[in-house]
Amino acid sequence: MNDMLGNWKRSHLCGALTAAEMGEDVCLMGWVQRRRDHGGLIFIDLRDREGVVQLALDPDRDPLAHKKAEQIRNEFVIAARGKVSPRPEGTINPKMKTGEVEIEVNELKILNRAETPPFMLDEHTEVAENIRLKYRFLDLRRPALQNNMLMRHLVAKTVRNYLDDNGFVEIETPVLTKSTPEGARDYLVPSRVNPGNFYALPQSPQLFKQLLMVSGFDRYFQIVKCFRDEDLRADRQPEFTQIDCELSFVDRETVMSVMEGLIAKIFQEALGVELTLPMPRLTYAEALNRFGVDNPDLRFDMELVSLTEIVKDCGFKVFADVADKGGLVKALNVKSGATFSRKELDDLTDFVKIYGAKGLAWVKMTEEGWQSPIAKFFNDDELAALNQALGAEVGDLLLFVADNARITNEALGRLRAHLGQKLGLADKENYQFAWVTDFPLLEWDDEAKRHVAVHHPFTAPLEEDIPLLDTEPGKARAQAYDLVLNGSEVGGGSIRIHDQSVQSRMFSLLGIDDQEAREKFGFLLDALSFGAPPHGGIAFGLDRLMMILTGADSIRDVIAFPKTQKATCLLSEAPNEVDEKQLQELGVRLRRQSK
Ligand code: AMO
Ligand code: AMP
Repeated sequence: MNDMLGNWKRSHLCGALTAAEMGEDVCLMGWVQRRRDHGGLIFIDLRDREGVVQLALDPDRDPLAHKKAEQIRNEFVIAARGKVSPRPEGTINPKMKTGEVEIEVNELKILNRAETPPFMLDEHTEVAENIRLKYRFLDLRRPALQNNMLMRHLVAKTVRNYLDDNGFVEIETPVLTKSTPEGARDYLVPSRVNPGNFYALPQSPQLFKQLLMVSGFDRYFQIVKCFRDEDLRADRQPEFTQIDCELSFVDRETVMSVMEGLIAKIFQEALGVELTLPMPRLTYAEALNRFGVDNPDLRFDMELVSLTEIVKDCGFKVFADVADKGGLVKALNVKSGATFSRKELDDLTDFVKIYGAKGLAWVKMTEEGWQSPIAKFFNDDELAALNQALGAEVGDLLLFVADNARITNEALGRLRAHLGQKLGLADKENYQFAWVTDFPLLEWDDEAKRHVAVHHPFTAPLEEDIPLLDTEPGKARAQAYDLVLNGSEVGGGSIRIHDQSVQSRMFSLLGIDDQEAREKFGFLLDALSFGAPPHGGIAFGLDRLMMILTGADSIRDVIAFPKTQKATCLLSEAPNEVDEKQLQELGVRLRRQSK
């Protein structure tokens, strides 16, 4: 029993067999997808990574093999020897790659038995995700997930080839390291040999990749795990993968053009889709103005229209007051949206409230003019001006928000994205990219009462905005860029500060004093003082990119062993409690949480 396969040697992959192999003797191994008994004849769908092929067992041809087949159940692992034969007239399946052939089996071997799986492994079962995640090894047998993983492999390979062709060197950076601020909480690892001390898992390799530029590697990349302890959403995981790049002696345009070349190559290899380069560029200010958000979905129009000027003296107090206080009144025109029900409008109102809006004023465009709770507040000139600004026609639905700039933009921006989905304007197979540039360098954190970096503290300001750092730091723009695809931020980066004094200045703007800067980033400041070249880079979220390439609705569908929304692994049951002894060795005592 020490050599279970004996003289059985697999000759082909199941899913690869076609009419080209007709008449050949083959030896196949795989999993039983299904067994069907047809009065004497037994058919088995045998599955492997490549797909499914049909085995046919005839009791007259080989009674022994047929007898064995009677014991076989779903997900058994078997080996079969036989001849590739044409399927009988009328049973050809043109939808299957192997649909013209079947294997006339003359020998069968059961390699392993299987319990009845907790769910069907075909394409069409709707199984609760927690069950799928608990039995992930079975879930991963499903063709959809197999294809996602295979495409992920293809993308990683394409990335390596492209970056290698463009002079990038793959270098690994530490996982047990020090905090790298990217705006999330750190995962900490206690050090046994240095009791009371902790490593942080990297939120990104940001600092190390900058050091590699100082060391003269010129172009670096890494396909690398990053760790962020943050609230999870449909497109976020606590550990996720970046395609992380850094380049020396480059400006923003060079980084963007090398990187859009990479993205174009990925789309070509993975989907056969040819992207048009260069990709559109959009400043942050323009993105916010037209779409309300910095990650606009450009697959459809429905842009935000600014109406503050028109309504500043109108009779609707809500709008006039907001205009008076320097806020923004903006609206969307939902073409043919006048059919929305009262319930739908109430739902949309609840939706914008999530983002802080106090209400959502609506107008249905009818033959008789405005049908709306706020129609009575406007005179004819105002109505005409609003209709013209919004391009309003009979049958349209106009949706207004009035608030401070941040809330108005975010509420309407998110509403636009939501409506794009709801109305089916966002075709999954239409890929619309844009580089969003000129982000603000800093934003005010109301809780911490200080500025924080919008990208990260190592991002350089625009040259022309450096004087603003002394006068109005909040107005300074950054040499940062995000790549946005179909409303998702798939990558982000910047030109870095390579001058030690500017970096120190940046830390002080962020309220980090010299001592703290030394403690946290001393090694970076040192490196910058020993001949740091001008440099910049970017990181793409590989998982997010894979979601879009595969059309997956959840980031978990493109990760082999993902975590739940509560950052747990249902398969291995991580995280778990550890022995008191282990804690003692680490010098860790638990603060027991009261139930
Ligand atoms: P940033 O923080 O923008 O930049 O991250 C880069 C990209 O990583 C993806 N991403 C995530 N994907 C899944 N789950 C998460 N929790 C998650 N967080 C981020 C996003 C994002 O665009 N060091 C800088 C890059 C640089 O400046 O070069 C950085 O990490 O797609
Ligand atoms: P009200 O006068 O409060 O009944 O509001 C009339 C309409 O205006 C309702 O549809 C509200 O949802 C909407 N509304 C109230 N406040 C705002 C606001 N800040 N922005 C947009 N619409 C609002």
